[in-house]
Amino acid sequence: MSGITIALSKGRIFEETLPLLAAAGIVPAEDPEKSRKLIIGTNRADVRVVIVRASDVPTYVQYGAADLGIAGKDVLLEHGGVGLYQPLDLNIAKCRMCVAAPVGFDYAAAVRSGARLRIATKYIAVAREHFAAKGVHVDLIKLYGSMELAPLAGLAEAIVDLVSSGATLKANKLVEVEEIMNISSRLVVNQAALKMKRELLQPVIAAIEGAIR
Ligand code: PRP
Repeated sequence: MSGITIALSKGRIFEETLPLLAAAGIVPAEDPEKSRKLIIGTNRADVRVVIVRASDVPTYVQYGAADLGIAGKDVLLEHGGVGLYQPLDLNIAKCRMCVAAPVGFDYAAAVRSGARLRIATKYIAVAREHFAAKGVHVDLIKLYGSMELAPLAGLAEAIVDLVSSGATLKANKLVEVEEIMNISSRLVVNQAALKMKRELLQPVIAAIEGAIR
């Protein structure tokens, strides 16, 4: 595909990416929250944006269906990052990945007891590594959303999820019991495209880098 294709997800990442794209002289023609279109043109005839699920951004860029993408560190760690050049932490869509459990559940005591803990999460790879590093025995249960429900419904004792304001935990009477890592979104670039289209991509990457400095 000639020109530049940029993979973005709707919502917070899209909104916080707009000023960075503007710094590179790129303005999407439509708002994906309003339009149902999945391919959105821009003010530049040679640049288009494709709207994908957040967790699919690395896959589009890995296979070269998009040259550039913006994805959270959470998503990139689960994907593994194969075939992706990750030149910039954009410092947007910041939050943290945590272990959370119901108010009143003594997580520390449960860990000390050595009993296997059931943990529900979308982030199996990150969770596996975290608990393995701590020597905590867990059974991981894969979910695709609404992780906060799992302990309330008796599916798991605790969850691994993203926390931003903390409002979702609070509303569901859960508390953060362990922080795993800080999360922000990164620019990802297809490695082959970076070589083949360097003169097109490099100015865009440089302008985004300038905008975050
Ligand atoms: C994320 C996360 C929490 C919530 C945390 O979900 O999974 O549920 O945001 O935000 P808060 O601390 O500000 O309440 P998101 O809305 O991105 O949807 P998802 O379930 O599809 O991940």
